[in-house]
Amino acid sequence: GRVVALVPAAGQGVRLGASMPKAFVPVGGSPMLTLAVDGLIASGVVDHVVIMVPAELVSTTAALLDRAQSSAAPEIPVTVVAGGSERTDSVRAGLAAAPDAALVLVHDAARALTPPALVAQVVAALRAGHRAVVPGLPVADTIKSVDASGVVTGTPDRAALRAIQTPQGFDAELLRAAYALDVPATDDAGLVELLGAQVHVVPGDPRAFKITTPLDLHLATSLLADDRV
Ligand code: C5P
Repeated sequence: GRVVALVPAAGQGVRLGASMPKAFVPVGGSPMLTLAVDGLIASGVVDHVVIMVPAELVSTTAALLDRAQSSAAPEIPVTVVAGGSERTDSVRAGLAAAPDAALVLVHDAARALTPPALVAQVVAALRAGHRAVVPGLPVADTIKSVDASGVVTGTPDRAALRAIQTPQGFDAELLRAAYALDVPATDDAGLVELLGAQVHVVPGDPRAFKITTPLDLHLATSLLADDRV
């Protein structure tokens, strides 16, 4: 079945402090979005990439990726569509642009350095029969829940926790059913869990970290300049 990768990049991304949406912030000379799409295509397991951007950036994004992609893998189509006002609306717009998908990956553009092998491992786990697959890493820090006044309300056993990355992979029918629930969410697997479906965790990769802060941007820039990593 066809594997379609959705890349929601329609947010404004103010946390990095840049004047442009986060996905368009350059890392080592290339926009994060371009790097993320290159990684998806380089995995060799993605048949179609759909990117959701702010409506006013659809044509510039299409031109940008056309240039970046022409040499890389011209046979993999990349479609750019307008996202919506919430992330869930953007993913829904992406799903609508991929009616023939059998498997769907949802990937953060901000995880620009995600190794292609991780993408392939998520798809392999889907092909092995799991209907929802997320990459996860053990957490190094102790995680506590706190209430609104900063008082600790619990300390979950760290051994049972995973920090979840993307791409998250789904049987297309399951993800469409999850989005039909029409509840807002920042985590696609979380929606699938609401349906009572099992979500399978595969080992994540530290290089798939989300570029969120100036410190992350610094790390990503040095990693790109250093091919030993
Ligand atoms: O802002 P936040 O980090 O939660 O956004 C997560 C991802 O969802 C970002 O890649 C952002 O571009 C995307 N998004 C979107 N459409 C929106 C809001 C966020 O595609 N309306």
